[in-house]
Amino acid sequence: MAISFDGQVAIVTGAGGGLGRAYALDLAKRGAQVVVNDLGGDPRGEGANAAPAQKVVDEIKAAGGEAVPNYDSVASYEGGFNIVKTAMDAYGRVDVIICNAGILRDIALHNMSEDDWDSVFAVHIKGSFTVLRAAWPIFRQQSYGRVILTSSSSGIWGQFGQSNYGAAKTAMLGFMNVLKQEGAKYNVMVNTIAPVAGTRLTQSVMPQEMVDRLKPEHVVPAVTYLVSNENTDSGLVIEAGAGNYNRAVMVKGPGLRPGLEDLKDAEWVQENWAGITSLDGAIPMWNAQTTLADFEAQKTKGS
Ligand SMILES: NC(=O)c1ccc[n+]([C@@H]2O[C@H](COP(=O)([O-])OP(=O)(O)OC[C@H]3O[C@@H](n4cnc5c(N)ncnc54)[C@H](O)[C@@H]3O)[C@@H](O)[C@H]2O)c1
Repeated sequence: MAISFDGQVAIVTGAGGGLGRAYALDLAKRGAQVVVNDLGGDPRGEGANAAPAQKVVDEIKAAGGEAVPNYDSVASYEGGFNIVKTAMDAYGRVDVIICNAGILRDIALHNMSEDDWDSVFAVHIKGSFTVLRAAWPIFRQQSYGRVILTSSSSGIWGQFGQSNYGAAKTAMLGFMNVLKQEGAKYNVMVNTIAPVAGTRLTQSVMPQEMVDRLKPEHVVPAVTYLVSNENTDSGLVIEAGAGNYNRAVMVKGPGLRPGLEDLKDAEWVQENWAGITSLDGAIPMWNAQTTLADFEAQKTKGS
């Protein structure tokens, strides 16, 4: 069945180009009224320009869709609130938020400045917090919300020279793991995308041939589905792009359960390292309570 966003309002941050633009175009084509947010700075997060967001709004309108621009930075608390206010003023509601705005400051740790660290965290992780903080009371009040956070293979698996970016992108998983719980009662589904696409951000790390081949449009279907009413899953990490769609997950190995009776020492850990680190029979955990309950259950079984 066709997935429709008729009557829904979507906010896409960093939608003036690359992946965000592609998400915004697809949602508008499917009936959403879209807030196209973009600060319009350079890939390092310097400068500002209203043109990219305005251009995407013009594109959506030329195709018969409905959109308004917003030029605030997601990195400021006021900016996040103003982005949500733009949606409320223009359309009176917010159903979908795609936290997509991003910058890069790649540099090995021994050369990284405080500003390189702070700027990347400000845009990616604080920039997701500011918009969601502003929208959360609306989601709770209307008992509906669909959210996408944007991670990266760098955040899930690690990438040399991206300690700032990788750490900020891993933080997205922590943010999601809490919001999936806080949102569950209110029909707010929070999922994370780890995209791969040729954009101006990846131009510096991919050969041009790859940039041309790996289109943002190959990521779009996963994001559109995840922010639709049809999706009732929350707390998933989906890698999408380059012709692949898969789930990535953190798992907990069975380990060893010697219990509390005998204190163990480092030599015991050394001798039992293979058993402690084995992933045979590893399973994902839904939340911190589940992992604690698992500890307690094993203790009861063992006693
Ligand atoms: N392209 C990839 O392969 C890839 C891989 C992993 C993750 N990502 C993530 O996907 C997202 C989109 O990246 P992209 O590849 O489309 O790059 P992009 O540079 O084309 O898009 C990012 C957009 O965010 C905007 N932006 C930056 N700072 C902002 C701020 N403070 N407030 C509002 N807007 C701001 C930029 O102006 C830009 O238009 C980013 O979060 C990026 O880290 C991309």
